[in-house]
Amino acid sequence: MQPIIEIKSLSKVFGSGDGKVAALQNVSLAVQPGEIFGIIGLSGAGKSTLVRCINLLEHPTEGKVLFHGQDLTGLKDKELRLQRRKISMIFQSFNLLDQRTSLDNICFPLELAGVSKKDARKRAMELLEIVGLPDKANAYPVQLSGGQKQRIAIARALASDPEVLLCDEATSALDPTTTDSILKLLQQINRERGITVIIITHQMSVIEQICHRVAILDMGQVAEIGEVESVFSNPQSVAGRRLVSPDMGLPFTEADGPIARIAFNGNASEEPIIASVAMDLGIKVSIMGADTRNIDGKAFGTMLISLPADPAEKQRVMEYLKSHPGVTAEEVQ
Ligand SMILES: Nc1ncnc2c1ncn2[C@@H]1O[C@H](COP(=O)(O)OP(=O)(O)OP(=O)(O)O)[C@@H](O)[C@H]1O
Ligand SMILES: [Mg+2]
Repeated sequence: MQPIIEIKSLSKVFGSGDGKVAALQNVSLAVQPGEIFGIIGLSGAGKSTLVRCINLLEHPTEGKVLFHGQDLTGLKDKELRLQRRKISMIFQSFNLLDQRTSLDNICFPLELAGVSKKDARKRAMELLEIVGLPDKANAYPVQLSGGQKQRIAIARALASDPEVLLCDEATSALDPTTTDSILKLLQQINRERGITVIIITHQMSVIEQICHRVAILDMGQVAEIGEVESVFSNPQSVAGRRLVSPDMGLPFTEADGPIARIAFNGNASEEPIIASVAMDLGIKVSIMGADTRNIDGKAFGTMLISLPADPAEKQRVMEYLKSHPGVTAEEVQ
């Protein structure tokens, strides 16, 4: 089957020079029509950037976004606008217009698309039925609960008859019961209307509850993709193991080779250290897991890195790390 959405070798770099951030690096994945596809990752993994690249709210630095096989990155504005109407989005913060009633919020995209006021209202009422809030047509967003606001946002997203619904942390601001009911609504929309749903979240429970397949995004890269059950029960990637097991994926297997834990005390930032090991020693080490916080460019927390198998090289890396001000390093495996 031809994927409905296919992302090919997509990279996104923000800024330039010293302030450059590679938010996504060489991301490829394919979403099949009719599936509920989850994308999970830690904060800063690049989830929102990825979802914004799918509907080209953000233009990829490199790579392609195919919708039914057609590359959206090559389209002219007018054609892109037409295609984009088939890919709707909902957000954590709902993004409703406060001065408009629920009904008028839902009518808004229809009016923009040139639908007559009368037809727009009729369609909006149908959509209010679908999301279970016909009695809230004349309520303003301030008069609605979080879950109700998200239902209105879903109705608005459905107004343009989309084929794909992108959900960026759509339930993250909601309590567990309300989260449950919104996820059930998304599931119903997927089943009854055949709309492909792409869910971005940092919560495993959301993925477990309704997704068919999941991609784990880790530091801007896809760590693994597969059926939810198999990825969560037997993750193949370090990022997957870290997600599933709370202690950053430890213990690793012997095949992972020697591993060091680096602790940052706020006098250094993390990325340059890994880069400078490569530059100064010519030895490549990779990050196996990290639980660091970045405050004003300074790192706090710990990181696990893979060490070279060769004992002499390993020793050079350890000595190098230990001599680095602001960090302590120990071999843990
Ligand atoms: N407009 C921007 N300009 C510069 N850097 C950005 C911009 N948007 C995102 N980034 C950076 O890109 C990286 C990925 O950010 P993104 O918002 O995609 O992560 P996320 O996985 O959605 O995180 P969260 O779970 O916190 O929402 C981060 O390092 C972020 O600081
Ligand atoms: Mg985000």
